[in-house]
Amino acid sequence: MPCSEERTPIMGLQEIIEREAGAGQLQLQAVPQAFIRPPHDRPPDGTLQERQLPVIDISGLDDPLLRSLVLQQIAHACAHWGFFQVVNHGVEDEVVQEMRAACWRFFNQPASERNKLRGRENELPVGYTTSFNPSMESTRDWKDVLYVRDVPGVCCNGFDLVPEICREAFQQYRSGVDRLGKLLFESIFESLGLSKASIKEKVPAAARLVMGVNFYPPCPDPSLTFGVSPHSDVSFITVLLQDEVAGLQIKKGENWYLVKPLPNAFVINLADQIEILSNGKYKSIEHRAITNAEKPRISVACFFGPLSDAIIEPLPELTSENEPAKYKAVKFGDYVRDFYSKSLRPNRETLSLAR
Ligand code: OGA
Ligand code: NI
Repeated sequence: MPCSEERTPIMGLQEIIEREAGAGQLQLQAVPQAFIRPPHDRPPDGTLQERQLPVIDISGLDDPLLRSLVLQQIAHACAHWGFFQVVNHGVEDEVVQEMRAACWRFFNQPASERNKLRGRENELPVGYTTSFNPSMESTRDWKDVLYVRDVPGVCCNGFDLVPEICREAFQQYRSGVDRLGKLLFESIFESLGLSKASIKEKVPAAARLVMGVNFYPPCPDPSLTFGVSPHSDVSFITVLLQDEVAGLQIKKGENWYLVKPLPNAFVINLADQIEILSNGKYKSIEHRAITNAEKPRISVACFFGPLSDAIIEPLPELTSENEPAKYKAVKFGDYVRDFYSKSLRPNRETLSLAR
């Protein structure tokens, strides 16, 4: 895949704000038209239901006595929520703090520096873009994103090409989160009853990592636009680092819940390919992020997925005569192409390729 072709990108949100409010400023007076959603499609009024969402201490995975208990907690959270937060996850606090600081360093640079990474954002090993797919969207989301990709076989490792002011912090963070992501990925299949041997043999490896550093400036009117509009993630699992500013909401049944930031935790959500491999025993969770008028928010999403040529279909261990496969076999690369060719879609629409 060519990594060099360029086109004129749509101006980033941060740059729109800086041009109007002045360099270093992040407050606009009004939401520009391009970000105003049609009235039927705006963030709903009012506060959301408060509810205790699953938090799992995964340090017990290393303890032979506690391991099965933790796997039960993972099974319960995956089957009922498609979402949980993990604590005592083994990623060093210092690495996380350095990562947060590095993200701010990137977005605090002048637009001229940041924009060196613009152009063909969805395929480049490192790319800086705005919203999700701005040229395909009727309304843009209130965010800019810095993507770093390590997709073996497609492109070079983006973590080697990150600008120097954040490279080392990103690389350290990647190593910590990679270990965590792969541990959780395996644990999720163990929690479905698969043996370590069948996981190794039957489950496509989580060899692809795409990291999105999301930057949400304060929004003058959060009732008009989303930070990220409703969607499900297309890969296996997402490991998300939030800061202390709330914004992420997840859907369970017909209700939306706010995921209150929990210090020292990562948010884990199941994505489409886990739903397919598990034959629907675990579901990909729909989520979105709202904006707020006061504070900028940064989140770091690490999307773990298979290689593009992996064929994803329900695992034979999880289908039977009584529970035939509910999803058909599709190449993962076809999901990726479909995902990036449109705007973000609600109602877990990206799964329609498998139906
Ligand atoms: C995403 C996402 C949520 C957040 O990047 O896919 O859903 O809270 N982010 O930033
Ligand atoms: Ni997401």
